[in-house]
Amino acid sequence: MKKIEAIIRSEKLDAVKDALASQGLLGMTITNVSGRGRQKGIALQWRAGEYRVDFLPKVKIELVLHEDECQPAVEAICRVARTGREGDGMIFVLPVENAFRVRTSDSGEPCLTGK
Ligand SMILES: Nc1ncnc2c1ncn2[C@@H]1O[C@H](COP(=O)(O)OP(=O)(O)OP(=O)(O)O)[C@@H](O)[C@H]1O
Ligand SMILES: [Mg+2]
Repeated sequence: MKKIEAIIRSEKLDAVKDALASQGLLGMTITNVSGRGRQKGIALQWRAGEYRVDFLPKVKIELVLHEDECQPAVEAICRVARTGREGDGMIFVLPVENAFRVRTSDSGEPCLTGK
């Protein structure tokens, strides 16, 4: 099992969610986060001059999935979340040791697909 942590533009959430659902990927966790990448936020002009906004609001999507679903999901997120401008986001892929469904005590990969 793998975990995808995708940090994307908030306005892209609906499109990404739909793209993942069309691959049968339904379970996920969404968090509003603030972050910065290599540009360290953005510079804004205001009366007194320039100031920097260090952390910008983003959305983080976390989903745990089968290893062979991972690459198609990453590709779908990239395709749908990309504007081509700085700040489109980052995707991290992590190994997952185990998963447990609380209701049934299923564990492992059946947690991801079982009923
Ligand atoms: N190395 C990192 N570790 C953890 N989170 C990161 C890292 N880099 C970026 N992020 C997260 O991703 C968000 C978007 O980053 P962003 O797209 O600006 O990355 P970037 O590397 O600056 O790429 P770009 O040059 O396209 O802007 C950040 O707000 C932050 O939440
Ligand atoms: Mg950036």
